[in-house]
Amino acid sequence: MPDFVEIFEMGPRDGLQNEKRLIPAADKIALVDLLSRAGFRRIEVTSFVSPKWVPQMADAAEVLTGITRQPGVRYAALTPNLKGYEGARAARADEVAIFASASEGFSKANLNCSIAESLDRFAPVAEAAKADGIPVRGYVSVVTDCPFNGPTPPANVARVAAALRDLGCYEISLGDTIGQGRPESIDAMLAKVLEEVPASQLAGHYHDTAGRALDNIDASLARGVRVFDAAVGGLGGCPYAPGAAGNVATEKVAAHLAARGFDTGLDMDVLRQAAAMAQAMRG
Ligand code: HMG
Ligand code: MG
Repeated sequence: MPDFVEIFEMGPRDGLQNEKRLIPAADKIALVDLLSRAGFRRIEVTSFVSPKWVPQMADAAEVLTGITRQPGVRYAALTPNLKGYEGARAARADEVAIFASASEGFSKANLNCSIAESLDRFAPVAEAAKADGIPVRGYVSVVTDCPFNGPTPPANVARVAAALRDLGCYEISLGDTIGQGRPESIDAMLAKVLEEVPASQLAGHYHDTAGRALDNIDASLARGVRVFDAAVGGLGGCPYAPGAAGNVATEKVAAHLAARGFDTGLDMDVLRQAAAMAQAMRG
């Protein structure tokens, strides 16, 4: 039996959040519905964030309630605070994600508060989700490099990852938000994080700005990580991280993993169709 590696599809959220052109909710729904046929276990659909901050995600409730849910697929949404959590719960998110930063500069740019304040805001979200039986995932951004503070010390990533674990996150996704990580910096970061959180509760979330995401995935596989976030068609970036390119393309990761003998359970034909649809949406 080949080793299973899961790709968590990010395109509709991390991909589309960054598009300048306002994409109609119906098109986003069509993309999610197509992705639902590809074999993913988890798809991040949208984020319940301030529409003043990210206008592209203002239709979060419409999209999440408009999709056709496939059995066996969990549909996720980002929730930065209780207001976002309540929106996600009302729209029947199967899981939610809270997202912190390993640097103060990016925390301020992305969430308008310090790391400590963001964790304070996430606590009631995690508590409410626990009471409602909704799993919570955690992100740590800028795990190797920050556009505001430069290289990120691995100990800072480990500290924030541990804080998210303590809040009850079932998995921590480690974000190379601006795609400047290298296999060596990813490896050094993982070595430190693994002192706090086991590989079975980690995911790699690598943007492909410098074209090194697959190398960074290989470095993470060597450390035992078996979940990777990716966006079909290589969509996206982060509106609050200057210079960030999209997540590594799902179809590229799936082909790379297959060539390395891993099973992803994904249908490459459906992925190709979804990549074409995603590319067409970019305008
Ligand atoms: P703020 O301006 O400090 O907050 O923003 P506020 O509480 O003063 O609220 C401002 C306005 O937004 C108010 O409206 C609130 O009601 C409203 P007004 O009274 O002015 O009309 N508001 C909301 N509306 C809808 N849903 C909500 C919500 N919260 C407040 N949940 C805040 C603070 C956290 C809200 C803001 O900074 C924000 O929304 N940030 C999110 C930014 C974002 O989405 N970034 C991209 C996702 S993270 C990412 O891409 C990285 C990742 O991929 C991993 C990686 O690559 O590293 C995950
Ligand atoms: Mg991202």
